[in-house]
Amino acid sequence: MRNRVIIGGQWGDEGKGKIVDALSRDVDWVLRYQGGANAGHTIHIGQEKHVLHLIPSGILHQGVRCLLGGGMVVDPWALRDEIIGLEERGFQVRDRLFVAANATLLMPYHMRMDELREAKLSRHNIGTTGRGIGPAYLDKVQRTGLRMGDLLLSADRLERKVIEKILSANEVLSNTYQAEPMPARLLAEELVVLAQTLAPLVVDAHVALAGVRAGSESALFEGAQGTLLDIDHGTFPYVTSSNTTVGGALTGTGLPPRALGEIHGVFKAYCTRVGNGPFPSELLGEPGDRLREAGGEFGATTGRARRCGWFDAVASRFAVDINGMTGVMITKLDVLDTAATVPVAVAYDLDGEQLDVYPTVAEMLPRCRPVYREFPGWGQPLTGCRALTDLPPAARRYLEFLEQILGTPVVGVSVGRDREQMIWTPGGVTV
Ligand code: GDP
Ligand code: IMO
Ligand code: MG
Repeated sequence: MRNRVIIGGQWGDEGKGKIVDALSRDVDWVLRYQGGANAGHTIHIGQEKHVLHLIPSGILHQGVRCLLGGGMVVDPWALRDEIIGLEERGFQVRDRLFVAANATLLMPYHMRMDELREAKLSRHNIGTTGRGIGPAYLDKVQRTGLRMGDLLLSADRLERKVIEKILSANEVLSNTYQAEPMPARLLAEELVVLAQTLAPLVVDAHVALAGVRAGSESALFEGAQGTLLDIDHGTFPYVTSSNTTVGGALTGTGLPPRALGEIHGVFKAYCTRVGNGPFPSELLGEPGDRLREAGGEFGATTGRARRCGWFDAVASRFAVDINGMTGVMITKLDVLDTAATVPVAVAYDLDGEQLDVYPTVAEMLPRCRPVYREFPGWGQPLTGCRALTDLPPAARRYLEFLEQILGTPVVGVSVGRDREQMIWTPGGVTV
């Protein structure tokens, strides 16, 4: 089986969790490589709903090994709770879940700093998930952060090291934010206890992934967030703090480029965004509310209402380009079942000039107005479709257009939240 990277093509929440779950059955490894518990990946199996934040979506398949890669920021409290949650639901987790020793440890003071910084930015805030992601990555690039490998230290040394970090975080809390200090000894003691549970999961990823490097074991890479939230290529500063694009899969696992295999982007048949920042094809007011209701567009991590709009082919083409996507998957096509027409942004109008290429200069995007092309709706439910030939002609025409404008084959179409509600189209949708 060929390896594959699953990358969000928009601003996150494209349905990556569902896709990764659907593809995990026959793989040896599912690897997360960036981000942390800011991700919320939802998987429905029958009546059961699972939301994963740190643990790769492959965990729901017995026998699949899962790794939290070195590019991640890992909150050990959240990881413990997620493991317990899965175990309580009958999933056997422990001997097949691993965490790279070089992953950054996300501490409660990172979460506190995230919250305080957002409050200080006031109406110019980013609208983060409040999970401490930015401050934890800051500690990493500043070369001061703790790492998962520190959990392997003796209890004494770990406690001393952690107290030292908390004391210096407390200086930032009081000097920058005039905030209360965190209880250093208490948190250090808690972490020492947590280390007893989590240390057995900590591995040297270079050793653990030897089989993937050699080609004898297969891997599915599970991206978090989406291309337009990338720290370098996204809508800065309204982005997350990691590389959500394809490079993150390399640096975040330590695997070489030849291990990546296919690069598959996941896109909703429309578009959503949580948090602040430009969104040219956003629908405000009642039309946006209707899409939000139809798609159940409320955040899996924070419960926030997602901003909704039409498919943006300009931004999506940029996502295809920058990641070198070899195929795309379109999710939530069924959400458009009752739309009379389905518009797609095919260009932008910038101060009266037509722009066909996505502008990466931050101040341009907020001034772009979408130029739409409209497609007729299909007016019937798609949730029972399992083959391309089951789709009504209007739905097929919409997919064919997306394939054409993105210049990349549509290799999968999701028509409902359940595992089975998929149409696999490895050869594309245009006949
Ligand atoms: P992720 O972060 O990319 O994994 O996406 P989320 O889980 O945050 O959000 C996607 C939401 O859409 C979840 O509630 C999924 O259960 C749901 N979903 C995924 N695919 C489909 C689909 O094809 N149709 C419908 N109706 N819901 C879907
Ligand atoms: P998944 O993996 C959607 C957004 C936040 C905010 C910005 C920065 O489920 O697709 P952060 O907490 O990362 O510092 O927030 O990024 N964001 C997401 N939006 N899906 C996600 O993950 C997201 N993770 C972060 O809303 O705008
Ligand atoms: Mg999500």
